[in-house]
Amino acid sequence: MERTFSIIKPDAVQRNLIGAILQRLENNGLTVVAAKMLHLSAQQAEEFYAEHKGRDFYEPLVNYMISGPIIVQVLQGENAIAKNREVMGVTDPSKAAQGTIRADYALSVRENSVHGSDSPESAAREIAFFFTDNEICGRNA
Ligand code: PPS
Repeated sequence: MERTFSIIKPDAVQRNLIGAILQRLENNGLTVVAAKMLHLSAQQAEEFYAEHKGRDFYEPLVNYMISGPIIVQVLQGENAIAKNREVMGVTDPSKAAQGTIRADYALSVRENSVHGSDSPESAAREIAFFFTDNEICGRNA
């Protein structure tokens, strides 16, 4: 069992896609073991995406991520990190494989509906950024 961190981004929350996205994740063997809805502050978004500071997309990404509420969640399952990335599809929805969340729901590279950790190290950092241990309800991963 592995855990990963996932965000349902502002474009998806705003378009009432929370249920549809969760269904895709759950149908693919991922279980939600922690979740909350938040409206990020600029400081939180800048810190969360600090690794991208200096990239041309950093400021648009931060501004977009504070534009509306998001769902942050911890997903648990076998190979959860890779499985979540597979179900999400690649960053650019026009290049995402058919049947992935981004191919079906994302609007653009910026408004791309979901985030998922890309490694065990990022998953651990990102989960700890938003959740304490006792807020996570699954069996220990
Ligand atoms: S990289 O180079 O692989 O680290 O970048 P990538 O994973 O593709 O993208 C990192 C995050 O930046 C977002 N992104 C953008 N946001 C706004 N505008 C533009 N043009 C843009 N390009 C990339 C992308 O959605 C990733 O966000 P997260 O939340 O990590 O999925």
